[in-house]
Amino acid sequence: MPEKSPKPVSASAIEKHVYKVFPNDMNSHETVFGGMIMAKCDRLALVVAERHSAHVCVTAAVDSIHFRAPAKGNDTLLFSLSLNRSWGSSMEIGAKVVAENSYTGETRHILSAFFTFVALDENDKPIDVPAVIPETGKQRQRFANAEIRREGRLKTRAQLAKVSDDDKD
Ligand SMILES: CC(C)(COP(=O)(O)OP(=O)(O)OC[C@H]1O[C@@H](n2cnc3c(N)ncnc32)[C@H](O)[C@@H]1OP(=O)(O)O)[C@@H](O)C(=O)NCCC(=O)NCCS
Repeated sequence: MPEKSPKPVSASAIEKHVYKVFPNDMNSHETVFGGMIMAKCDRLALVVAERHSAHVCVTAAVDSIHFRAPAKGNDTLLFSLSLNRSWGSSMEIGAKVVAENSYTGETRHILSAFFTFVALDENDKPIDVPAVIPETGKQRQRFANAEIRREGRLKTRAQLAKVSDDDKD
């Protein structure tokens, strides 16, 4: 099969997707429920992966989720996601969520995370995706860092495969 043309990061990125927090988004501690933020990140990261690969994609792994500050009632959440790197069939997408007080313009960094998606063909088998072209200094740094994280993920995966029988019940 011919190699797919590389695509720039900007072709699939999501910049500051806006989500207004309402009372039904809160946990019992009166801060925004973290699971809601994670689910929205997963959904938006899927869009980035499917734009880049032009295939159905599934979440293979999520790592380094860090909640850096709580989001509060009435905040506006801004979700930014972009493709850091692709390999064979897998892609790493970085997510950053910022909370904005829309009255004052003040912002706080709420979450960072990395999602690995795998593109699937019509038989649900992994299929190769285009390479990504980093366009800015920041994107080149993320491209390099993604390789380091991938090594860690694959090492963990291999180690877990060796002991997976312990995990079956
Ligand atoms: C993700 C999945 C398709 C991988 O299938 P698989 O049979 O393990 O396929 P392979 O071993 O050929 O791996 C395919 C790619 O996934 C990557 N991968 C698989 N598991 C991974 C993990 N835990 N972390 C990072 N990458 C992973 C491999 O490195 C490989 O990447 P590459 O092609 O870029 O080198 C399969 O495990 C799956 O279907 N998981 C369930 C997905 C799901 O239901 N998600 C939630 C709902 S969307």
